[in-house]
Order: sequence, then structure tokens, then C-alpha cells
Amino acid sequence: MDMDQGPVKLAPSILAADFARLGEQVAEAEQAGADRIHVDVMDGHFVPNLSMGAVVVQALRRVTRLPLETHLMISAPDFFLEEFIEAGADSLLVHWEGNNNLHRTVHRVKALGKRVGVVINPATPAAVLEEILQDVEQVLVMTVNPGFGHQHFLHTTLPKVRRVRQMIERVKPGCDLEVDGGIDATTAPLVVAAGANVLVAGTAIFDDGHDIPAAMQRLRVAIS
Ligand code: DX5
Ligand code: ZN
Repeated sequence: MDMDQGPVKLAPSILAADFARLGEQVAEAEQAGADRIHVDVMDGHFVPNLSMGAVVVQALRRVTRLPLETHLMISAPDFFLEEFIEAGADSLLVHWEGNNNLHRTVHRVKALGKRVGVVINPATPAAVLEEILQDVEQVLVMTVNPGFGHQHFLHTTLPKVRRVRQMIERVKPGCDLEVDGGIDATTAPLVVAAGANVLVAGTAIFDDGHDIPAAMQRLRVAIS
């Protein structure tokens, strides 16, 4: 797409980092030009896996100046918004799925003074965003089913990324369009061409056999 979305941003997902050296790895990603840090929160219920909670955000807050975005893959996000914000989260990404009161959740985050984004899973159509888009700063389109890192990119999500980009240009220009799951040097150009302007990458940054700066450079070259 040809709209001016500014430079594409990279959001390393720490799910693929070496947790024994988490602070160091995040500092390395920051030095290598990461734009924000993506923190995947899983409760073993909304998704079939457990990951990390607000203590990790709190610990990272001391080692990086980058915005910390928390991707809440949890069944009852409303109970945890304050906790993540107090820990130092700058933006909260909440799923459309399973939230009967999404508008309330979104407005609570805004009332707490933080950036808010809505996330949709691979089987969820872009159309569900129509009425909430004007209220959010960001949309996250999952390009894998949430719950695990190291999964294969679902190519069937590409037309949806294009549809969300068109909706954003119509309803909320300036809203970030982020993608998450299976993003690497091969798939990054595809999602950028479809209109994504923020790329989450776990494996491709922390676990691709290169050091972190080289891995990030590979992604940047792929989309340049
Ligand atoms: C998946 C998470 C992703 C994940 C991406 O449930 O939301 O953020 O860490 O990892 P990769 O880049 O390895 O697919
Ligand atoms: Zn994520």
C-alpha cells in the first residue's frame, strides 16, 4: 500500500529471549534500535500456555527506556489493567475474543492514561473492528494462533491485514497496524506490503542463530 505510515517499527517479543539474561537482551535490542518491547502475557486459559506476569514488566522497566507493550492473552484483562500499568506498561493490547465489554475495557485503559490496542485472532474477521477502531491507538492482527512462539506465519491472514489497513485509513488514520506471529525476513515484506507498520518478532530477533543486532538488521533490510 502506498499510504504514508512512517518508518516500520520493530517490537521484539521477549517470549523468545533467554530469560536468564532477559535484561541484557532487552538492552541489546534497545541499542540495536528496537522501537518498543512486546511482552506476551498468557494465563493458561485464554490460550493453552503460561508465560509471564506484571513482575516481568516491573523488572524490565528498570533496564529500558523503550515503551513496554503488554499483549494480554488472558481471560479477564479488566482485573489486571491497573497492575500492569503500575508495573510500568505503556500500552495494553486486549483481545476482541471473549470480551463482552470491550468498549468498557478500552475506555478504562484510556482513563488510566495509557495507549490501548485491540487484538484479533486469525479466525476473527476485520469487520469486528469497525465500531471500536475510532477509540484505539493500535490494532494487532495475529498472524498465528496466540499461545506460542516459533509458529509458522498464516498466509491466509494477509488479505485481512489489507482490509484492516483500509479501515484504518478511512476511520482512524494514524492508528498503528501491528502484526504478531511468524514474522521473519521472508514474511516481513509481505505484511508490510499489506499495510502493517509495526512488526512483532520473537524468534527472528532472539533465536535465529544471529546476534540480536544482526537479526534486527536482517529484518530491516528485508523490508527496506
Ligand atoms: C504468540 C505471541 C507472539 C510470539 C511471537 O502468542 O503473541 O508475540 O511471541 O513469536 P514468534 O515471532 O516467534 O512467532
Ligand atoms: Zn504477542
